[in-house]
Amino acid sequence: MTEAWTAKQRARWPLLIAQLEGSWTPPSWEAIPQEAIASLDASLSAAVENALPSSEERDARERIATKIAPVLERAVRGSKVLPFGSAETGLVLRGGDVDLCVVVSSDKGQKRLVRDIARALREENYTSIQPITRAKVPIVKCRDAVTHLPIDVSVNNTLALRNTELIRSYVQLDERVRALVVLVKHWALHRGLADAFGGTLSSYAWTVLALRHLQSSTPPLVPNLQEGDPRRVETMDGRTFDTTIADGEALSCPLSLGELFAGFFHRWFVEHAWSSQVVSLRQSAELNRKKHGWPLPKPSPLDVLQGRAERCGEHLLPIEDPFDLNHDLSRVVRPEGWADIMEEGLRMWKGLVEGASLESLLATSDHATLPEAPRGLFDDLRDRPRGEVETMLQDARDAHDDVALLLEALSEERRRTISMAKAMRGTLQPSSGMPEDVVFLLETLRERAVAMKQFQQHRDGIDEVAMLPMNRIGQELQRLHRSLTSEVDVDHVPSLRNEQRDFARFLAVQAMHQSKPNADASHAAYVDLLRAQRDDVKQFAALHLTVEPKHEARLAEVDLKAVRIRTGDVDEYDRRANLLSNLVRDQRRERKRLSREIGRLTAYLGGGRRSNRNQRRQSEGHQHRQPRPKVDVEEVRQRAMDGGTLSLEDLGALLDEGGVVGTGNNAPSRSRQRHTSPKKRQSQRRPKPSGRRHDGQGRRHDGSR
Ligand code: UTP
Repeated sequence: MTEAWTAKQRARWPLLIAQLEGSWTPPSWEAIPQEAIASLDASLSAAVENALPSSEERDARERIATKIAPVLERAVRGSKVLPFGSAETGLVLRGGDVDLCVVVSSDKGQKRLVRDIARALREENYTSIQPITRAKVPIVKCRDAVTHLPIDVSVNNTLALRNTELIRSYVQLDERVRALVVLVKHWALHRGLADAFGGTLSSYAWTVLALRHLQSSTPPLVPNLQEGDPRRVETMDGRTFDTTIADGEALSCPLSLGELFAGFFHRWFVEHAWSSQVVSLRQSAELNRKKHGWPLPKPSPLDVLQGRAERCGEHLLPIEDPFDLNHDLSRVVRPEGWADIMEEGLRMWKGLVEGASLESLLATSDHATLPEAPRGLFDDLRDRPRGEVETMLQDARDAHDDVALLLEALSEERRRTISMAKAMRGTLQPSSGMPEDVVFLLETLRERAVAMKQFQQHRDGIDEVAMLPMNRIGQELQRLHRSLTSEVDVDHVPSLRNEQRDFARFLAVQAMHQSKPNADASHAAYVDLLRAQRDDVKQFAALHLTVEPKHEARLAEVDLKAVRIRTGDVDEYDRRANLLSNLVRDQRRERKRLSREIGRLTAYLGGGRRSNRNQRRQSEGHQHRQPRPKVDVEEVRQRAMDGGTLSLEDLGALLDEGGVVGTGNNAPSRSRQRHTSPKKRQSQRRPKPSGRRHDGQGRRHDGSR
């Protein structure tokens, strides 16, 4: 006979398998010593306190709900945000999620609204955003950026609002209701049994099981709150639901928390006939599976676990939703989850009977996934020295400045690209004989032409002095260095004149070696701008506009004939505009995140004004991100125009200030720099080596000239 269970399965589900094989029977209710139950009470009360969130966490949860509500209401116009779930019923556990429902009358389906919400949350710096559109109720999962508390947002989840109301009504009946449900949820969570996405039951299903136990304990503690008149019937999504919730009072029940807790495990893991009954809170009874239309699953979970089938049937642990009577809360349970639940229930019951410590029975199991402990605003800072936090603040400010600069450039380029696309479509508004945006475009082309000229002149200025191509400069340097430093042969002592000549040449070639990369950087910047210019000019020319005489001067500065004209490709501009919009959005989000981080770090350090960033860095002796040394730009500019050598710092400072030709009135001002393309700005800020090739005579081959 082949072994039905693997060794791994036997190790994972020892009690369940022993029971199924008939080698072990769970102890009866009478087997549990009364004193064991009595001694449970104190430790159970302590466990409840431990499982509940601290008052700080409760406050944080409220702050999160208040902060996110306007974001959601903006994302879904005309909506209202309502809290539901355990935070509303008083059953929330430490680190538990914040459940919010966006209520709206909208033609858009739930899935589309869920996507809109995910987008809005992304823009507001929520983290771990995960729209789940395939679930029975589509939701967006995310986390608060500061505390990392999980947040679930659903749309028009009206039934959940109603069942929250029902559970709250039960919880308010007696303190033991809250205590028992919290203990059951805590046990399920720590033993890896409360994960609807992972194949076990939802916390909500465990809540319903606990409440049903309190309805049927001997004697019962709570009545059925769904009985009585008048009835409330509501239509949701074309279906009607009886959502009546009656006022009620706790029944006279002397049972202690220990008795109720032990009774819960005895009821569901020893007594209840899962194979023939459906749990119904609504009817305050166990219903017949067959009559209810929820027969035994075929194939069964055992068929799947023992390899006789791949997929299991439905209704593994049938639990009727109190309002949606067609909804089995065990719909999500998979065969392994079913076996885990049964094993853990039996383990708890056996442990209680045998007097095992509550601590060991509630200990977190290997496969439990617990919520992250919520973080305080300053948790990550407390163990750091003050100087380190100051550096973090300074870094955040620097990064914020960089992002702001980049954002400005991207926004500008995006505006320009959209204008270009509009111009291509001929949708611009005419004004004073010429569309305003066309004038703007001309201005853009003209500004870029001026910038290109500056880079070109700078490059050519250096090239005039350093005529050799880079590889030849290297060879010549090596040759001269060898000749000046090689051992002197007494028979061939070089004349003083020749040695002086070689030395002077060595210095000249060395200067070329230093300045050549600057020419290359300028050339690279020039080529970048040229490409952008050529694209825009092509598109502009394709408009076939009649240009007024007063604008001709501007046009003259843009050499339209210098490029071949191709018929317009508006789609390309749309694509660029889209891409730029995405980049702008990302950068805005990043800027917002950095602003918050700056606020947080400043608050932690107790305020204080911003000091000069370079001074602060220098005084703290930072080695990374060295500030650029102070450069006398006018002096450097003069040197460059005279053909002198420039260091990379010189070139960087020069380009920051508008380039070589941009002296005095010609120099692009800061505000004019703002209107240059990001490409150009990038080139200006980070000169990069050119990829152009040279032939033996120092001519370039880059296709641009
Ligand atoms: P949870 O399963 O998260 O319950 O469902 P909870 O008690 O809030 O659990 P924790 O403490 O946060 O983990 C949240 C709410 O979603 C609705 C119920 O209103 C429940 O209170 N819900 C959940 C349903 O309506 N049906 C389901 O099948 C599951």
